[in-house]
Amino acid sequence: MKELLYIDCTMHPGSRTALLAEAFFDALDKTKFHVTTLDLDAMDLEPLRNESFRTRQLLLARPERDHPRFDLAKQFSAADVIVIAAPYWDMSFPSLLKVYIEQICVDGVTFATTETGLSGLCRAEQMIYLTTRGGLIETDGPLDQASAYLRALQNLLGYKNYTCIAASGLDIADYDWQSSMNEAIQCAKKTARSLAD
Ligand SMILES: Cc1cc2nc3c(=O)[nH]c(=O)nc-3n(C[C@H](O)[C@H](O)[C@H](O)COP(=O)(O)O)c2cc1C
Repeated sequence: MKELLYIDCTMHPGSRTALLAEAFFDALDKTKFHVTTLDLDAMDLEPLRNESFRTRQLLLARPERDHPRFDLAKQFSAADVIVIAAPYWDMSFPSLLKVYIEQICVDGVTFATTETGLSGLCRAEQMIYLTTRGGLIETDGPLDQASAYLRALQNLLGYKNYTCIAASGLDIADYDWQSSMNEAIQCAKKTARSLAD
């Protein structure tokens, strides 16, 4: 059984991004994957600031990484597959996802500092990013600072492969956004099925 970590950063009931994620998980072979879901909106995540940041710096100065503050990072580092679902907000993703990412970027857990630079420690073969966008935004184009960021993060954390599945134009009234959504749903299903190979 492989470990799949689902980072759910969908923000409201009826979310189209959540629909895309639903299609992905409907097609996933549950006999091969154990799914752990993190509902970011329901978690007490805090940005690194003030006392919270200072305490973490002190903990990082110790060689041990046994403090519960590093549990999320350990979970991320150990997953075989990581799936993130988040809508496109303000040219990127919701800040809630960035707050989570701050928690999991931990030296000695998800990456290592070596003499030649930083090196990823995450074992995941796949990171899959599911998103929907109101405008006609091209994945990894100059207006997409969400997928581009997660692709850059691959360099730090070391997940082997990265895939973005997106539907765009969902808030453009005279655009055939339903086709864009259907295409993304088919792609999400195909990608989920391919994980079982
Ligand atoms: C706070 C907020 C910020 C948004 N920012 C953008 C944006 O910068 N560009 C864009 O094309 N759409 C933007 N949108 C529209 C969403 O990307 C679009 O409606 C998306 O499909 C929402 O996904 P959801 O149904 O899962 O919430 C924004 C929506 C919200 C609520």
